[in-house]
Amino acid sequence: MKNSPQKHRIIQLLLLLITLVLFTIAPATRTDSVKVGATHITSGWDLTLPSLAETYKDYFMIGNVMSAHQTLDANLTAMYKHHYNLVTAENDMKPQYLSPAKGFYYFIMADMLINWAAANNIKVHGHTLVWHSQSATWLTTGVDGKPLTRAEARANLQEYITNVAGHFRGKVISWDVVNEAFSDGSGIPNHWKDALRKDSPWYLAYENGADKSKGESGADYIYDAFVFTRLTDPEATLFYNDYNETDAWKREAMAMMAEELNAKWRTDERNTQPDRLLIEVLGMQAHYWTDSLDVHAVEAAIARFIKSGVKVAVTELDIPYGSWTNQHSEPLTKEEALNQARLYAQLFMVYKKYAAHIDRVTFWGKADSQSWRAKGSPLLFDGNFAPKPAYYAVIDPEGFLRANR
Ligand code: G3I
Repeated sequence: MKNSPQKHRIIQLLLLLITLVLFTIAPATRTDSVKVGATHITSGWDLTLPSLAETYKDYFMIGNVMSAHQTLDANLTAMYKHHYNLVTAENDMKPQYLSPAKGFYYFIMADMLINWAAANNIKVHGHTLVWHSQSATWLTTGVDGKPLTRAEARANLQEYITNVAGHFRGKVISWDVVNEAFSDGSGIPNHWKDALRKDSPWYLAYENGADKSKGESGADYIYDAFVFTRLTDPEATLFYNDYNETDAWKREAMAMMAEELNAKWRTDERNTQPDRLLIEVLGMQAHYWTDSLDVHAVEAAIARFIKSGVKVAVTELDIPYGSWTNQHSEPLTKEEALNQARLYAQLFMVYKKYAAHIDRVTFWGKADSQSWRAKGSPLLFDGNFAPKPAYYAVIDPEGFLRANR
C-alpha cells in the first residue's frame, strides 16, 4: 500500500477524525492561548471592531483564507463571519489534495469548507485548478518520471477539470483556472509565451508532441484549461492568478496573454456567449514586502490590466516586514508596525480609486501567527489576534495617513 491512494485516503480520514475529536472535547467558547516567557496570555478576537467587509461593502468583497479543519473553531468562524464575505481554501482545493491518483477524487475536506461557507452566506473562490506546484503527478507525468504526451496530458486536464469544476458547480462563484504560469524573471517579452515557466510539468507535457508547424507549443495548456472550465461551469468567473504582478515584464505578459486568449475565444466555435470574455479577471496575488512595495507600480499594473479589458482582483494580500533577502523576525517595533500600516493605507486608497474594476480584495491569512510568512508579521492582526496599526489603516486609509504622516 506504499504511497497508494488508499493510504492517502486513510491518513486524510484519520486526520479529520482527530481534528473532530479535538474540537468536540474543547469547550465551545474556546479561546486561544500563547506562552510569553513563563506566563500564559489568553487571547481572542474582538468582534466589537468595525467589520472589514462592512466597511468596504460599497467597493468590493473582502476575503481571506480558511482550511477545512478551521471551520470547527467557533471563535475563528465567528470572527470570519464578522470580517469577511468570501473565502479561498488555503490548500484544500489544490490538485494534490483533491486527486492524488488517477481516478481518485477526495472532496471531503473541501466540501466541509464549502458547506460551512454556504451555511454562513460566505461566497467561495476556487483555488486552483492548474498549477505547477501542489499539483497531482498523474496529470502530467508518467510513472517513469517523464512528461506524458500532449494528448495524454490534455485528456487528463479535461478529465480533472470536468470532475472538479463539475463537483463544485453552483458552489463556487469563481476559479483560479491557471496559477503562476509565468517564470520568475524576464525582460518585457515580445510575446507572452516567451515568459512562461518552461519547466512547469504542464508545459513540458503539452510540448511533448506539439506540432510546431501548426503553431502548437507547451503554452497551449493555458487556453485548454480556461475552455474546459468555461464549458464545465459556465456560471463561474474565470481568473488567471500570479505573483510579482507589479513587475513591468510580468504585468505586460499577463495582460498580453489575456488579450490574445480572449480574442481567440471570441471566434472559437464552442463559445456560445460571444460578448463574454474567457479570462475575465487577472488576479494580483499581492505578496509584497515592506522594503520593496511600490504603490505606483501597483496602480500601473491595475491600469494595464483594465486596459486589456478584464477586471482585477487582489487575491492573496500580505506585506511582511523586510525583503526577500532580508527577512525580518517578529515582533515588529512600534515604528515598523506604523510603516507597514502606511503601506496598507496607501494600497487601499489605490484599490478604492479603481473599485469599479476590482472584484475583491482577499488577505492571505487571518493573523500573523497563522500566516505562511509569519516571520515578517505580514497581516492586520497579531499573534494574539489583536488589531495592529495595519488594521486601522485598512479601515480608514485617508484618516490613518492624516494622523500618521
Ligand atoms: O498537509 C501536509 C501535512 O500532511 C504535513 O504533515 C505537513 C508537514 O510540513 O505539511 C502539510 O502540507 C503543507 C501544506 O501547506 C498544508 O499545510 C506543506 O508542507 C506546505 O508547503 C503548504 O504550504 C502552502 C503553500 O501554498 C504551498 O506552496 C501554504 O499553506 C499556502 O499558504 C501557500 O499558498 C500559496 C498559494 O496557493 C499560491 N500563491 C502563493 C501562496 C504562498 O506560497
